[in-house]
Amino acid sequence: MRLFLLLFLSIPAASSAESSSTSVSRVDFPKGFVFGSGTSAYQVEGAASEDGRTPSIWDTFAHNGNVGGTGDVASDGYHKYKEDVKLMKETGLEGYRFSISWSRLIPRGRGEVNSKGLEYYNNFINELISHGIEPHVTLLHFDLPQVLEDEYGGWLNPRIVDDFTAYADVCFREFGDRVSHWTTINEANIFALGGYGQGILPPKRCSPPFGNCSSGNSIVEPYVVAHHFLLAHSSAASLYKKNYQAKQQGSVGLNLLVFHMLPATNSTADISSTKRAQIFFTGWFMEPLVHGDYPKIMRKAAGKKMPKFSSKQSKQLMNSFDFVGVNYYATVNVVDGPNHVPAYQRDFMGDICANITGLWMSGGRESMEAGMNAPYGLKGVLEYFKQNYGNPPIYVQENGYPMPSNASLDDTPRVKHMSAHLESLLDAVRNGSNTTGFFTWSFVDAFELFGGYSSSYGLYRVDFGDKERKRYPKHSARWYSHFLKRRGNSIYTDKSSSYVPQIY
Ligand SMILES: *[C@@H]1O[C@H](CO)[C@@H](O)[C@H](O)[C@H]1NC(C)=O
Ligand SMILES: *[C@@H]1O[C@H](CO)[C@@H](O)[C@H](O)[C@H]1NC(C)=O
Ligand SMILES: *[C@@H]1O[C@H](CO)[C@@H](O)[C@H](O)[C@H]1NC(C)=O
Ligand SMILES: *[C@@H]1O[C@H](CO)[C@@H](O)[C@H](O)[C@H]1NC(C)=O
Ligand SMILES: *[C@@H]1O[C@H](CO)[C@@H](O)[C@H](O)[C@H]1NC(C)=O
Ligand SMILES: *[C@@H]1O[C@H](CO)[C@@H](O)[C@H](O)[C@H]1NC(C)=O
Repeated sequence: MRLFLLLFLSIPAASSAESSSTSVSRVDFPKGFVFGSGTSAYQVEGAASEDGRTPSIWDTFAHNGNVGGTGDVASDGYHKYKEDVKLMKETGLEGYRFSISWSRLIPRGRGEVNSKGLEYYNNFINELISHGIEPHVTLLHFDLPQVLEDEYGGWLNPRIVDDFTAYADVCFREFGDRVSHWTTINEANIFALGGYGQGILPPKRCSPPFGNCSSGNSIVEPYVVAHHFLLAHSSAASLYKKNYQAKQQGSVGLNLLVFHMLPATNSTADISSTKRAQIFFTGWFMEPLVHGDYPKIMRKAAGKKMPKFSSKQSKQLMNSFDFVGVNYYATVNVVDGPNHVPAYQRDFMGDICANITGLWMSGGRESMEAGMNAPYGLKGVLEYFKQNYGNPPIYVQENGYPMPSNASLDDTPRVKHMSAHLESLLDAVRNGSNTTGFFTWSFVDAFELFGGYSSSYGLYRVDFGDKERKRYPKHSARWYSHFLKRRGNSIYTDKSSSYVPQIY
């Protein structure tokens, strides 16, 4: 009787594993697909003023009390990289995404290279390679050298293009024999909007009524900064293609944070404002990269605020990427908004004439929970690139789930989240998406952009109260390891979660 029951119960599970995409394992993904995890320099390295490193705008932002903590020590990755690579290997990571601290490598922003910084990244990269882990490197993860911000206003000034290109050149030259995946700028769209529109990210620039900063201009600056991101990206990418790619056989891309957007109602107004909002958030960068200019509806809405590309710049932009880095965290709702304010008084959101609720505009507990527990949105954004931008190769470079840093090591809500997102990813791949990699955020607990040390995303807990910054595997580390080591299906079918993610 007992045996019979067991057999009976096992039938539906086994057959659904064969016949549909509701079950997923490592071997279901195409050859060459890479699975990994990631972090960024300021969030884990610590050693902020050691061995010649100078502050970045993120150091300044944190030291001004904007996050409730600083990255001075962080997870102490600078000293613990060997231990971390060992953990990566044990976990079964195939790739590791990290960023280089520009002000550690070139402390004055331009010119002299810091031999200690060079040595650190060389050691780290060698350690990854010798453990069979593919390095995926981001050049700028919000942490512009403060010295360039002070000298000429950082990303607001076109001078940044040459300095960024020279920095990228050092990285390609010094590390490119071992690194073949380069991402120029992390979350370029969110850096522009958060850093210069809302003033919630470094360098904390904005103007009232759009935010509370000591200086800035929320109406114009995000457009200016985005323009310089694009020019700096394409300048660095074309340098790579001209001087390094043939020999090093690597690839270059730009990273965007992409929301899946759904109309709040099925009214034609909300449906069309949703399309508009996605063009503003994503097409803002993708249209110049694919077609050489900003989307027409953005030019129309933003008018004179939107800079122009010369024909030479347009040409350099087109096809200046081999892949797109996509960070996916949330699905948001879009409501049509009013359009009666002149362009010179509207910020980016006003130019869209839409109201975005959920995570972005902190739509409250309920919509945040729904927004961050929306695995179908991952497939949604991958479909968006496939259907609108010619199905470019994509690395999902971040996807993760925040929990309080003192939560139990049994982080089942995170495991459910990961499991459901992997299913969604596989659905997208099976429907033809050119996605070639997936990196969870984050490998170890880090100094988070929002929430500092109170919010954590890591597969491994870091005890920030311990001088040694000891690491402890969470359930999610074991679960991911199980998945990566091809030990069969271990997907959670129960997608319910009573847990409410907290980041703000
Ligand atoms: C703006 O920021 C200042 C300084 O951080 C703070 O004292 C003030 O309360 C803030 N105002 C608003 C409206 O948030
Ligand atoms: C809009 O219509 C679609 C298709 O009929 C439906 O699935 C969806 O739930 C509707 N959305 C809203 C917000 O009513
Ligand atoms: C946007 O949504 C918020 C929250 O629902 C609401 O308070 C605000 O009035 C809306 N703004 C516009 C322009 O619709
Ligand atoms: C994926 O991208 C590569 C490089 O752009 C391209 O050659 C290939 O055709 C794409 N694959 C699909 C299925 O679109
Ligand atoms: C975690 O920290 C919060 C805030 O300090 C506290 O309220 C909560 O009780 C702590 N939870 C655990 C499990 O220690
Ligand atoms: C699968 O891809 C096709 C072609 O791009 C698209 O039309 C269709 O909507 C996609 N299906 C789903 C379920 O996303």
